[in-house]
Amino acid sequence: MKVISNIATLRQELSQRRQIVFVPTMGNLHAGHISLMEQARAHGDTVVASIFVNRLQFGPNEDFDTYPRTFQADCDKLTNAGVDVLFAPSEQDLYPEPQEYFVEPPAIQNVLDGEFRPGHFRGVATVVSKLFNCVQPQAALFGKKDYQQLMILRNMTRQMALPIKIIGGETVRAEDGLALSSRNGYLSAAERAEAPRLYRCLQNMRAALLAGEDDFTRLERNAIDELAAHGWQSDYIAIRQQADLAPARSLNTPLVILAASRLGGTRLIDNIEI
Ligand code: PAF
Repeated sequence: MKVISNIATLRQELSQRRQIVFVPTMGNLHAGHISLMEQARAHGDTVVASIFVNRLQFGPNEDFDTYPRTFQADCDKLTNAGVDVLFAPSEQDLYPEPQEYFVEPPAIQNVLDGEFRPGHFRGVATVVSKLFNCVQPQAALFGKKDYQQLMILRNMTRQMALPIKIIGGETVRAEDGLALSSRNGYLSAAERAEAPRLYRCLQNMRAALLAGEDDFTRLERNAIDELAAHGWQSDYIAIRQQADLAPARSLNTPLVILAASRLGGTRLIDNIEI
């Protein structure tokens, strides 16, 4: 695997390659990321990953400084997964001057996670479009765990007419159901034992919807209450339309339940499609 930090060197390296498939990450890689790398191979002949902890998408009180950085272990995992090129720019490489031009997503950036993380999706859309310009892939993969992110990036790519196919990878879970996430490493042993409750709540809500329950507000409130009884503080548990993440109105349209809840100091997100 070639490891490249400089944009010009990356362009030079990729200029001879066709069919580039790209998996952007912020590192601290787990089986969810590796599954995206493995799926990438089916969509092209050169797999490019990136590792960049993007300051622009973190709020002032978020975990930018403490976000786990495990570069050497990540390189070993990417090499084993058969990744061809790793783009790992420094902040100076990607933001040599203060970034003053942004990609501003529409109103969808202000709901759900965006309501609790102002500016987050603007930071994500900006860095991903910049990474797309550096790598110029024909396809890119993102995990479905970040459901709203995937939707925003898919819409951005379509509206900007970027010739890139956006592919969503299924969420990879631990045996007890907890969605894999770099932030799971923040959980204490007791919190880790409690953490699978979030997905169990989503599964129970899904079962109720499939059984015909259509009092969406009641289902959301019950889940928030159940989590609160076990020490969670929920930002949202929301039943939404898959198409546009607007609040669910009917059981006859494809729905998704999205959740963000805090256990101790750790904010976990998850979702389940109906
Ligand atoms: O999902 C992530 O890890 C990040 O938001 C991304 C897409 C790599 C942009 O920094």
